[in-house]
Amino acid sequence: MPSSVPGPPPPAAVLCGLAGRVPSRVVTNAELAERLDTDDAWIRTRTGIRSRRVVAPGQATSDLAVDAGRLALASAGTDSVDAVIVATTTPDRPCPATAPVVAARLGLAGAAAFDVHAVCTGFVYGLATAAGLIASRAATRVLLIGADTYSTIVDPLDRANAVIFGDGAGAVVLRAGHSGEPGAVGHFDLGSDGAHEDLITVAAGGSRLPTATGETARADAYFAMRGNEVYRHAVLRMAASARTALTRAGWQAEDVDHFVPHQANLRILHAVAEDLGLPRERCVANVDTVGNTGAASIPLALTDAAARRRTRPGDRLLLTAFGGGLTWGSAVLTWPRLAAPAHPYPEEGPP
Ligand code: UT7
Repeated sequence: MPSSVPGPPPPAAVLCGLAGRVPSRVVTNAELAERLDTDDAWIRTRTGIRSRRVVAPGQATSDLAVDAGRLALASAGTDSVDAVIVATTTPDRPCPATAPVVAARLGLAGAAAFDVHAVCTGFVYGLATAAGLIASRAATRVLLIGADTYSTIVDPLDRANAVIFGDGAGAVVLRAGHSGEPGAVGHFDLGSDGAHEDLITVAAGGSRLPTATGETARADAYFAMRGNEVYRHAVLRMAASARTALTRAGWQAEDVDHFVPHQANLRILHAVAEDLGLPRERCVANVDTVGNTGAASIPLALTDAAARRRTRPGDRLLLTAFGGGLTWGSAVLTWPRLAAPAHPYPEEGPP
């Protein structure tokens, strides 16, 4: 057997478009404290969150995804892609997937379109999937959108989760290019451990429990998380995954200009950065303003950093995520030559 595959190297996925979108409604800690047994000090101290965005009644995940996707296509200067991937835990409905309707509404009918469900790790899984489509030459341009509306699955009276999650969408366009050019994505690390499936769940609505019934109906239909245990797994898994991706890329932690973790909780982000030996200034954090937006959190944080002109061509980025499943994943990339995107929440003031 030959030790290497003959022929030219496969194309690399190169970031060429970026955008984010959050709903206009802001929910502050003070507003939550009016209806829940909580207070601003607890939420800020335990999570670092000051406010989050929440969809209006009737506004669905695809609505945010379409807005972010349209802006990302404009950022890339294109109106055609070969594939649309939506990473989400809150699809518009169990069937069909959300990506085909998003593609159609963006004028991309005909493109391959499917959802990735890896909970809060969905964007990183989607990034690896998009890179694989490009490397295999099945696609030369891919629109990847991370979008979630956790407010539609979290019990509004559940103080533990209602304070953490927010709604939003972030999108990137990837094109075929060379691994050495600014914007090239990869290497990756992806993993899971389903033995801990019960730490983050929505019990009803699938084949195990098709419809929530009886006394437990309300609880089974809502999102549930054993936050304290998840916290410990998150720190360990994110740090280990980040190290694996760095090793595969041949980078040291000090080579990383911007660490962009899934915005789970500010304490988790800082604990992982500290574990990696990265100063907090290199950790991109916008969880204070948007909360934990699930699969949208990394592209929203990227958009925030780019809109504030923190990222420069050639900068080295490390993305790391963790979520239900359990799942985790990391990716490295260099920053492309890309016009700064519009700020995803301009009402908050100029970046
Ligand atoms: O995105 C996917 C991955 N998700 C995550 O990574 C989230 C990971 N977990 C976390 O971020 C944290 O565990 C939480 C923010 C969810 C909770 O913080 P914690 O420091 O782990 O608090 P805890 O769950 O240990 O609860 C401490 C206390 C409890 O009261 P007792 O039993 O000590 O009397 C809770 O009932 O805080 C209470 N509590 C609250 N108090 C005021 C829980 N939620 C609230 C609240 N306001 N909103």
